[in-house]
Amino acid sequence: MIRPRRNRRSPAIRSMVRETSLTPADFILPLFLHEDAHDTPIASMPGVTRWSLDGLLREAGEAHALGVPAIVLFPKIEEPLKSPHAEECHNDVGLVPRAIRALKAAYPSLCVITDVALDPYNSDGHDGVVQRNELGELTILNDETVAILCEQALCHARAGADIVAPSDMMDGRVAAIRQALDSEDFQNVSIMSYTAKYASAFYGPFRGALDSAPKDGDKKTYQMDPGNSREAIRECLLDEAEGADMLMVKPAGPYLDIISKVRDTSTLPIAAYQVSGEYLMLKSAAAAGWLDERAIVLESLIGIKRAGADMILTYFAKHAAAWLRGS
Ligand code: PBG
Repeated sequence: MIRPRRNRRSPAIRSMVRETSLTPADFILPLFLHEDAHDTPIASMPGVTRWSLDGLLREAGEAHALGVPAIVLFPKIEEPLKSPHAEECHNDVGLVPRAIRALKAAYPSLCVITDVALDPYNSDGHDGVVQRNELGELTILNDETVAILCEQALCHARAGADIVAPSDMMDGRVAAIRQALDSEDFQNVSIMSYTAKYASAFYGPFRGALDSAPKDGDKKTYQMDPGNSREAIRECLLDEAEGADMLMVKPAGPYLDIISKVRDTSTLPIAAYQVSGEYLMLKSAAAAGWLDERAIVLESLIGIKRAGADMILTYFAKHAAAWLRGS
């Protein structure tokens, strides 16, 4: 008789037939930072901290020592530095470039990824430049935004970023950023494109962490409609043609079908972002004692990997790495 259960009989056999496994090298840790000298717990994301520069270095070092190869930076920018054209996003002595320099000096082997988008720097809280008509209706200007994103990417590259990750969903930005980087001799700086970034309610806690929620309107004219999947393939083909080195799907858990389709469409490495709302759901269920934190977190992550992700951006990166190493 054919008995599939024979392959599940013992831990040894299960370990041999396991199709997908997690390692700390799969994870990218998103880190929040601010200008303050104190480390501040983030109310909307229990267990997550907005770091001072010193705290950031310590946390990144601990994650790296546990085998996490990369971090991605998200700054909270003070109100007086925000402006309609987000000039602060390409200030060479701004918060992010200073953090990149300090991280690369302290941990040369750590891969430093930066977010390229205007929302933390923009007085309108949008990823691009906002234009209003007499009726007060908003347009997010695509090409004007792309020009600023190129400046931002160059600023991060000059500071030593290994990978820039445009998360703005403007059209044509991957090609423009590639060209800008190449023209200044940053051929070795990679682009991880947020290829299929959905207009998701799961970003709520993140916007609380950075005080970056749109002041007006929503992000539906640039981020994707949750009902669409063919459109993700269209974005994927464009990003590939424009020269992206890696593609990203975001959020991850509710979009496993998209990860799988992008995996089948592209030969590029694929990242998936387990976003703040996914973190909060798992964390709060665990904090209430309703679910076993370690088990649900590792299961949520292996599901994302099984769907086709090579890398996972997750706020659990450090803990998951420690659990996988048996500590
Ligand atoms: C903005 C950006 C967002 C996230 C990463 N980059 C929020 C948004 O698009 O409004 C969300 C990450 C998360 O929710 O964990 N460029």
